[in-house]
Amino acid sequence: MNKIVIGITGATGTTIGLRVIEVLRDLGVETHVVVSRWGMQTLSQETGRSLDYIRSLSSVLYPPGDMGAAISSGSFGVDSMIIAPCSMRSTAAIALGLGDNLIHRAADVMLKERKKIVIIPRETPLSEVHLKHMLSLSRMGAVIMPPNPAYYSHPSTLKDVVDQFVARILDQVGIEAPFANRWKGMKSSAQNVISIDSD
Ligand SMILES: Cc1cc2nc3c(=O)[nH]c(=O)nc-3n(C[C@H](O)[C@H](O)[C@H](O)COP(=O)(O)O)c2cc1C
Repeated sequence: MNKIVIGITGATGTTIGLRVIEVLRDLGVETHVVVSRWGMQTLSQETGRSLDYIRSLSSVLYPPGDMGAAISSGSFGVDSMIIAPCSMRSTAAIALGLGDNLIHRAADVMLKERKKIVIIPRETPLSEVHLKHMLSLSRMGAVIMPPNPAYYSHPSTLKDVVDQFVARILDQVGIEAPFANRWKGMKSSAQNVISIDSD
């Protein structure tokens, strides 16, 4: 059975992390959740949801300062970790191995254990320091997935955008979202505009 750590930090897009937890709860996946202080402030601002709501969805909810938590050790044995969204502060802290809160420490554990870690970094535009940290995490084996919409799927609501992206995140940890909408090739009308002479 899958055992997944989910971190929510203080960047916009907390609705993505929240939706990941909701979907995993519906699928009966064991979730170990940590929300940073600014993650909670942002989540409350963006979704109106409380920490109690997150607790009700999670198998275990840890305070971000609980460095003695099970997920702080590689011996606990989780399968994967998702950080959605991941602020530039947390991206930097993880890239530098600071491990000074439970999200950063749990991420450090995933990197040292060579386990799957999916990071949803959110900032725009990106500075050289942001890009450097993302490159260094990618080189360490982390999957870096900025929360970019797939415009070709013609989303009409924000929920469509979030669900499409959440399905792609769950693909990364080997879980099929029930609403996953997959590319099935160009529509015939779009194919008609491509010249048969083009490459
Ligand atoms: C409403 C709001 C939105 C924010 N959005 C972002 C963002 O998109 N990206 C980012 O890197 N920081 C953002 N921040 C700043 C972070 O919350 C701040 O750097 C914080 O220290 C991150 O700490 P954490 O990574 O422990 O959650 C935002 C802050 C607030 C209050």
